[in-house]
Amino acid sequence: MNAFTFTPENEAKFLALLERYLQKSSLTLPSLWMVQYQEGWISTEAMKYLAQKLDCSPMDIYSVASFYTMFNLKPVGKYHIQLCKTLSCMLRGSEQMSHHLEKKLGIKVGETTKDMKFTLTHVECLGSCGTAPCMSLNDDYVENLTLEKLDDIIDGLKS
Ligand code: FES
Repeated sequence: MNAFTFTPENEAKFLALLERYLQKSSLTLPSLWMVQYQEGWISTEAMKYLAQKLDCSPMDIYSVASFYTMFNLKPVGKYHIQLCKTLSCMLRGSEQMSHHLEKKLGIKVGETTKDMKFTLTHVECLGSCGTAPCMSLNDDYVENLTLEKLDDIIDGLKS
């Protein structure tokens, strides 16, 4: 018995997509997104479930899910901050911002606050080097970060 199943809405979306693609493997990314929006993260059970539906191995699903940093392979807080630590962002202060966020949130990089509100992670280049330093906050990019801007964002989300 699998612990994960799509909601009826996601199952309907999956079946609609199935008709549009010649190969089931083409549904890997959209299916992973559906899992993540349904559960907030992608569990081993969900990967096994997708593997069955897409006629592939759980490792095939894992290899895709683990390649992209936007997929969460463990539970995350309501607000997932993914701070870029690659060169352009680092040269423009992302390390200092990381320490600032750790202090402000009371967690280390890779951790989630006890109230499950914030998760802080580091990621490689977000492809927005021209507006470094930057981070993603759930589905949005926040660019040209400053310590003041971070404070405003976090304080706004806390209240
Ligand atoms: S180095 Fe941070 S977005 Fe490219």
